[in-house]
Amino acid sequence: MPNQGWRSGTVRPVTILLHVDRNQDFWLEAFRQTLPGREIRGWPDVGDPASVEYVVPWKHDWSTLSEHPSLRAVLLVSAGIDHVDFSQVPEGVPVVRLVDPQMSADIAEYVSHWVVHFARRFDRYLAKQHEAAWAPLRQKKRRTVGILGYGEIGSAVGVRLEALGYPVISWSRSAKDTPFGRHYCGPDELFEFCEASESVINILPMSEATAGLVSADVFEAMGDAVFVNVGRGGTVDHDALLFALDNHLRAAVLDVLPVEPLPADSPLWTHPKIVVTPHISGETNPFSAAELIGANIARIESGEAPTPIVTANTY
Ligand code: GLV
Repeated sequence: MPNQGWRSGTVRPVTILLHVDRNQDFWLEAFRQTLPGREIRGWPDVGDPASVEYVVPWKHDWSTLSEHPSLRAVLLVSAGIDHVDFSQVPEGVPVVRLVDPQMSADIAEYVSHWVVHFARRFDRYLAKQHEAAWAPLRQKKRRTVGILGYGEIGSAVGVRLEALGYPVISWSRSAKDTPFGRHYCGPDELFEFCEASESVINILPMSEATAGLVSADVFEAMGDAVFVNVGRGGTVDHDALLFALDNHLRAAVLDVLPVEPLPADSPLWTHPKIVVTPHISGETNPFSAAELIGANIARIESGEAPTPIVTANTY
């Protein structure tokens, strides 16, 4: 039985400092309801900096971490860690990312929607509707979905698509065991993986190793595939994407962009083969985040390590 002391309201009133970029009042309410007995404060209303034991941020002014001598952990509300400045995290303070099955499930639903949209040619039927054209197309058999960057989210995406009848393959930088079709690994197998995929689902995290990894050559290997990006915008060369769309790629669905919000004058907004959504494929749910973060606080307070701890070298 995990330590549920944080539910009982009898715990020490330590301060948890929350810093999210929108709906902060709703987040504060979720944390106050889920973690009674804690002092939950919302950035920038820090109160006494010395009483802050947990910082729970999305993006943050990382240099302020040094103002909290009692800091015990940084508990991120994100799956991604590319926004963390690890050089500012005090020695010995763990940084923990959020692994929320609900977020993975939402991303899997988003990805399935777009894979089905293009595989069943709903894009073409919408265009036909605008011409008042009743034009059934031949139904193709389900074609392979390739998951680029395989982890918890990729696994949830694979399960959902396999249940819909799509063969699933995957690629990551290192070898992985997956319950799906072939797992390709390392730079040598990236092109073969892209050539075998009818839809490529990019779930790559952002790091020095993945910056611009989806390059002109990688798009060329995708041929007429559909490209869906729910990973990070910085992993993609967007000039190469535009070139590929104008020449061979079937479509691109972009939920993450190199600069967010996407500037109003970006050509990505208006390209006829691009769908842009505002980073909503898997939004963090404040209540499930509060449960998961509360469980990690309970682990820390009973002398166990929170999970999963990440470092600057995790990806
Ligand atoms: C969202 O992109 C996240 O990293 O949780």
